[in-house]
Amino acid sequence: MESGDLHLCIDYVSSGGIILTPEQKAALQTALVILQNENRFYRVYFWGKIFGVKEDYYIVQGAYKDEFAGRKSFYSKDCIHWGLLPLATAKMKENAKLAKGYFTGDPSYETEHVELKITGEGQNATEEEEVTIVKEEDRLTSVIAEIDEDVRIVPRGAFVQVPTAEVVKNRSFEGLSVQEAAKLCNYMHFREAKRLNLRILLQRANMDRAIDFMDSIEDDVPRGSWNIQFERGSGLLIMRSLQWPGYVFYHVPATRKYGSVYFGTGEKNMDLPFML
Ligand SMILES: *[C@@H]1O[C@H](CO)[C@@H](O)[C@H](O)[C@H]1NC(C)=O
Ligand SMILES: *[C@@H]1O[C@H](CO)[C@@H](O)[C@H](O)[C@H]1NC(C)=O
Repeated sequence: MESGDLHLCIDYVSSGGIILTPEQKAALQTALVILQNENRFYRVYFWGKIFGVKEDYYIVQGAYKDEFAGRKSFYSKDCIHWGLLPLATAKMKENAKLAKGYFTGDPSYETEHVELKITGEGQNATEEEEVTIVKEEDRLTSVIAEIDEDVRIVPRGAFVQVPTAEVVKNRSFEGLSVQEAAKLCNYMHFREAKRLNLRILLQRANMDRAIDFMDSIEDDVPRGSWNIQFERGSGLLIMRSLQWPGYVFYHVPATRKYGSVYFGTGEKNMDLPFML
């Protein structure tokens, strides 16, 4: 969620138990301003919180003018001291999947994974141990990247791709109507489109290139991985991901107010396909 009115935005998602103390809100608000100035970010976001056994990680992100390019993530345990997270590489993400269970809260904590590999044949076969070390800091940045990739969403039309290919906020966006807000097809994955293929292009004659440069969540697999709910009459739309429990998106229909946060353990619900 955006930094500007954090204390208001966080109230929209409070029904799900997402709460910050007044001290945390104040510290975060200050930190966001400092990080923005120091790094010359165009925009800063409060991304959420990953719970650890001993301590929790607060996460903020900074974005440049092109919202898709060069976004950086920072973590803190006290909302005052912040560390830059390394960019999640493909190898880091692959290794991070080996680390199971809760985060500890110590970024330098390492888990060791031993896999037995058999080489050679018959009597000559020997067992070899392949050891992979996963540092918690690497797992943290990997999980954040994965959550963003899998479930970070925005309303359709909120962002535009300008002719220079930069992805920027749509200044004339006025929000989704209540009717529109209830439909999955009006939410987009906030990442470059992966699924736009000819079949979909042909099916959707009403596609607009400047808007539809992202994938709609309508085609998400497994189906039913999103829970849509209205609160405050139809004054507030809340969407929860069942794939990444803890990810919450909100939108006040017919306004520019929307955003999301993640408050969870950083564990994906692997059983989801069998639960639906
Ligand atoms: C095991 O290795 C020996 C020597 O390298 C070789 O002569 C033999 O054929 C091998 N046996 C099997 C079952 O691969
Ligand atoms: C920008 O927002 C306006 C108002 O909601 C909408 O009509 C328009 O289609 C949007 N533009 C793009 C390119 O998404």
